[in-house]
Amino acid sequence: MDPMRQRPRRNRRTPVLRRFLSETSLCASRLIYPLFIHGGSKDEPIASMPGCSRLSPQGLLREVEGALGDGIQSIVLFPAVEEALKTSGAEECHNPSGLIPRTLETLKARWPELNLITDVALDPYSSDGHDGLVDENGRILNDETVEVLCRQAVCQADAGADVISPSDMMDGRIGAIRDALDDAGHQDVAILAYTAKYASAFYGPFRDALDSAPRGGDKKTYQMDPANRREARREALLDESEGADMMMVKPAGPYLDVLRELRDSTDLPLAAYQVSGEYAMLKAASERGWLDERSVVLESLLGIRRAGADAILTYYARAAARWLAE
Ligand code: PBG
Repeated sequence: MDPMRQRPRRNRRTPVLRRFLSETSLCASRLIYPLFIHGGSKDEPIASMPGCSRLSPQGLLREVEGALGDGIQSIVLFPAVEEALKTSGAEECHNPSGLIPRTLETLKARWPELNLITDVALDPYSSDGHDGLVDENGRILNDETVEVLCRQAVCQADAGADVISPSDMMDGRIGAIRDALDDAGHQDVAILAYTAKYASAFYGPFRDALDSAPRGGDKKTYQMDPANRREARREALLDESEGADMMMVKPAGPYLDVLRELRDSTDLPLAAYQVSGEYAMLKAASERGWLDERSVVLESLLGIRRAGADAILTYYARAAARWLAE
């Protein structure tokens, strides 16, 4: 056959043809906006995440109002907890009058349609900076931790969370949290499992934001080894069998093969988290004029969608929604 009979460029000739044949789309309704909150009266900019702040209660209302105006309908909340409230048992995580429950109640009352997602893990509340309870030898206690996570999840659901998102990577927590939610009458509250969450250095800026870095050791006995892909499938099978409604891969950009692997092996909806370090990289290069921010951000998000994500958590959610609407 004449090689020139096949001309893929014919399908790229005009903007109309290119849009007509585009295989992947990006829209604001698929973006989830992570927000940092604290109890103080002023917003505090986060140095390693330009454009993001620890928001005061007032600042949060302003930010959510703006995000809704830009077309963002889902947010996930992360609390910066004052040092005096951090304990080895992380009890503050299930205090019904703590920062997260109070904030959920306020937001639900004001915007009932807003999709409220909460993070389940102990690290913001732990004086050890770990997602689980730590014993005297520095070991992370799995089953004891799961009990505390269940109380945290129920506390968040009681306060109005729509989706509970365990990011702790303890074994068996999805099933245990599902049972605890059901026993508390929260059959309709969904679970978005952090299924393949890697022990990644890309979480650095997030830990600055919450002052939540581990005070001893690292997270490698519970978060996954970045070298592993098959293991993600194993985690996915478990989370699905335990009752996860949606699953997540995190970080996103460096783990697109994992996302595709899960897309091909489960029918559950998938989310991916473009984490703080990915945001910081894009931001830093853009600020220096080395990359065109709008183009690289939208391309990075499109790549995550193409790899198989239905929804994307990104600190660029608001900006991306605005760019998409232009
Ligand atoms: C904590 C948690 C982390 C992130 C989300 N939930 C940090 C960690 O596991 O150390 C990271 C998010 C980001 O870097 O943007 N359970």
